[in-house]
Amino acid sequence: MKTYRITVLKGDGIGPEIVDETIKVLDKTAEKHGFALEYTYALLGGAAIEATGVPLPEETVAACKAADSVLLGAVGGPKWDNQPGSNRPEAGLLGIRKALGLYANLRPAVIFPPLRNASPLKPEVIGESLDIMVVRELTGGIYFGDRGTQEKDGVKSAYDTERYSEPEVERIARIAFDMAKKRNHKLCSVDKANVLDSSRLWRATVNRIAKEYPEVVVSHLYVDNCAMQLVRDPAQFDVIVTSNMFGDILSDEASMISGSIGMLASASLGGSGFGLYEPIHGSAPDIAGQDAANPLATILSGAMLLRYSLDEPQAAESIEAAAAKALTKARTKDIYTPDCGAELVGCARMGDIVAELV
Ligand code: IPM
Ligand code: MG
Repeated sequence: MKTYRITVLKGDGIGPEIVDETIKVLDKTAEKHGFALEYTYALLGGAAIEATGVPLPEETVAACKAADSVLLGAVGGPKWDNQPGSNRPEAGLLGIRKALGLYANLRPAVIFPPLRNASPLKPEVIGESLDIMVVRELTGGIYFGDRGTQEKDGVKSAYDTERYSEPEVERIARIAFDMAKKRNHKLCSVDKANVLDSSRLWRATVNRIAKEYPEVVVSHLYVDNCAMQLVRDPAQFDVIVTSNMFGDILSDEASMISGSIGMLASASLGGSGFGLYEPIHGSAPDIAGQDAANPLATILSGAMLLRYSLDEPQAAESIEAAAAKALTKARTKDIYTPDCGAELVGCARMGDIVAELV
């Protein structure tokens, strides 16, 4: 039987719970579609700090490189808030993205029909349907630029640097254009070109690459306008391509339109089939260990793993269909309302229901 190797990084907070449910669903899916999944577990984030003193041990990088793909829960928590920046759990997450060369982060924001009422936007604002793909640059920009903190004459100052090179913009733009070509042929590039040099280079580069894709209609928005347009008329968007930090912010905003940040999956890719898959939300330490988290963002990330890294699109569709159907029967508390017609369930039960429906 075809066997794929997945390295699993459960991380912190709700990470272990949502990953366990995802593995439950993945195993059921593999069984149904006739392949096997072999898991290797490694440490990342706070869990790694506790065990080894650092958020990204070398063995973790090696275990990820040895696998066909990586499944990640979430990292971070108040316990490690006082660590120096370079030794925080988040530094482990940024480090593994960089170490694996995963420069393209795909964050699909879709509304599952049963969740239309869970969106804070009015039905007439959402329109017929919502299907936005945010393509976020993931290994450059201000997240990885020069930074420092200084003190002079008793006054502290700190700085971070946003820098993009043409090749960095070119490769993420190509990913976004290819994506738009397979979808509705619309690409919106988001920047702050009215203020930032890095954004002016971004925009000029996207326009140059656009010549290779005459079938895709390109537009540009300043990030402040895009944030506003996302809640004014989200249906205007097909694919959005943007920098690391703008993509971080806009994908959280887009997720809320779909009902809950607990619904949004992501794939981080590096141009080959290899990828890392994680929900876009954080480790939610306030609800960790209470069986209250929504596992769907991670389960749907598992579906993306099957599609993009293992080339098992039918298996991916099985999970997506099962998740959509599960929402008509059961909801975790982030997407539950008394009139939703579904039962209020915990994280583990939600995982069971999706697995049953696969
Ligand atoms: C995300 C998260 C991370 C990021 C944090 C935890 C470092 O917010 O994946 O969106 O900013 O990339
Ligand atoms: Mg984020």
